Amino acid sequence: MAYRPVYYGEYLQLEKILEAQSPVSDEPGNEHAHDEMLFIVIHQAYELWFKQILFEVNSVVEIMNKPSINDNSADLQAIVHRLRRVVTIMRVLVQQIDILETMTPMDFLEFRDMLRPASGFQSWQFKILEARLGLQFDERHGQQYYVSQLNQKEIDLIRDAEKMPSVMNLLNQWLERMPFLDAQAFWGQDQGGHADTHPFWAEYEKRYSDSLAEAEKSNLQAFRQIFYGAEPQAHRRLSPQACRSALFIMLYRGYPMLELPFQLLEVMLEIDNQLGSWRYRHINMVRRMIGSRIGTGGSTGAGYLQGAMDKHYIFREIAQLNSFLLDRRRLPALPSSLTGKLGFQF
Ligand code: HEM
Repeated sequence: MAYRPVYYGEYLQLEKILEAQSPVSDEPGNEHAHDEMLFIVIHQAYELWFKQILFEVNSVVEIMNKPSINDNSADLQAIVHRLRRVVTIMRVLVQQIDILETMTPMDFLEFRDMLRPASGFQSWQFKILEARLGLQFDERHGQQYYVSQLNQKEIDLIRDAEKMPSVMNLLNQWLERMPFLDAQAFWGQDQGGHADTHPFWAEYEKRYSDSLAEAEKSNLQAFRQIFYGAEPQAHRRLSPQACRSALFIMLYRGYPMLELPFQLLEVMLEIDNQLGSWRYRHINMVRRMIGSRIGTGGSTGAGYLQGAMDKHYIFREIAQLNSFLLDRRRLPALPSSLTGKLGFQF
């Protein structure tokens, strides 16, 4: 089959992209500010990378949203591979702040006031990304700015994203479907749905309790609430059943069947880690650039950003599970009917 010849500049639509930098300081009546070009280009570069990240995350959601993810297919591989790409891009996004920091606060002041009320706060792609990963509106810091600073079209786009299945919801559902903790199938006992009398968990809880120092004994109460809690807990996105599966994956990841699921949990923590690093670098840059002044978007500036940084860790419930790990030598041995399933099968 003959393909039509493609020309580099046309294919990449460079004319559009390279004509899309219009500094306000070059508008009639304003005074040219040299660093405004850098400021525009860097924001555009961020937005392009946000687009690519969303493309990857949307495709991951699509795979995870299937009624079941077939472990014998390339599905799980593709999810982990694409989320790793997201992490790699995020690392570049953190690094890019170095470039912006070559602009001094005085350079910024030359055009800052011309930008009001534009602000990175109005990056709807960033907010959609947070939503698609799993951040809900009622968990957002500074909800008032969300409504006051964005235009209606973009609020609607973000609201729509908040209603769609997110990586976090789908992770919860996937963990709940994990078959390896079926008491009847692998431990030969029917638990009647009570997790705390499951032979594995009853033993694990005992060993975990023995491992705690006196000052840590309150962890046991948290253990029972997180892994067996019957009452729905506000703002928790992982159910007790999903938490049990996730902890089990972390504990027994040495078995081949659990290695890729473990990597999935890890890559999610790395996404939070990189987003957190970006927020941290951004806040420090903001403090250095504008000190204690309010942001162009009208928020309290660094104070608002610090609040968002503390509140917007999306996968923190996975990180929290690390409080309930046991050292390998204390792990309960698994029944052979289960270890057979967790190894390679030919
Ligand atoms: C001179 C450089 C920058 C300064 C002084 C700055 C300042 C701020 C401030 C003060 C806010 C809080 C909202 C407001 O009141 O405006 C904010 C939010 C934000 N900025 Fe920047 N920013 C800078 C560069 C960037 C760059 C390069 C990006 C890349 C896209 C970016 C993305 C964002 C995002 C996504 C938010 C919203 C964060 C959230 O709501 O959690 N900013 N910025």
